[in-house]
Amino acid sequence: MKYVSLQRLAAIFAVICVVIALAALESNSPVAAQSKAAIEGANLFTTSGCPQCHGPEGLGTVKAPSLRDVRKRKTDDEVRLQIKEGGKSMPPFGEALTDEQIASLVQFLRSKKAWTGTLTPSKSSSSP
Ligand code: HEC
Repeated sequence: MKYVSLQRLAAIFAVICVVIALAALESNSPVAAQSKAAIEGANLFTTSGCPQCHGPEGLGTVKAPSLRDVRKRKTDDEVRLQIKEGGKSMPPFGEALTDEQIASLVQFLRSKKAWTGTLTPSKSSSSP
């Protein structure tokens, strides 16, 4: 009888350990999810045609300004609206991209790590 209850205690202890481990994972996940979105945003930057005007490195071209320091000049919401609704010369992407994709682009453009090498748009496969 005593042996059984010890086993039961061990089982309860094991369950508690698993719950603590899961809780620890859970508390990390918002950060992980955020950088995942930013990486997706970096890829979307290439695949959505942004480099045509803003350049593959985001440095800007004659058609559009650099996006490298846009995170200092604009809020998340301003960047989101610029992408969704376009601007004076920039076409709107609200039809081509989902809100989630636009949110990923915002994460990318607003990230401090954007363009630094840890978080850069993948080179498009069509232009080597
Ligand atoms: C046809 C050219 C063109 C394309 C394609 C384009 N942009 Fe733009 N973008 C512009 C121009 C021009 C501006 C300057 C403001 C304006 O005229 O709308 C701008 C401004 C911006 C701004 C605000 C910059 C600032 O400092 O105020 C952001 C953010 C931006 N673009 C993101 C994007 C993203 C992300 C994509 C791809 C989904 C994209 N743009 C595609 C032309 C373009």
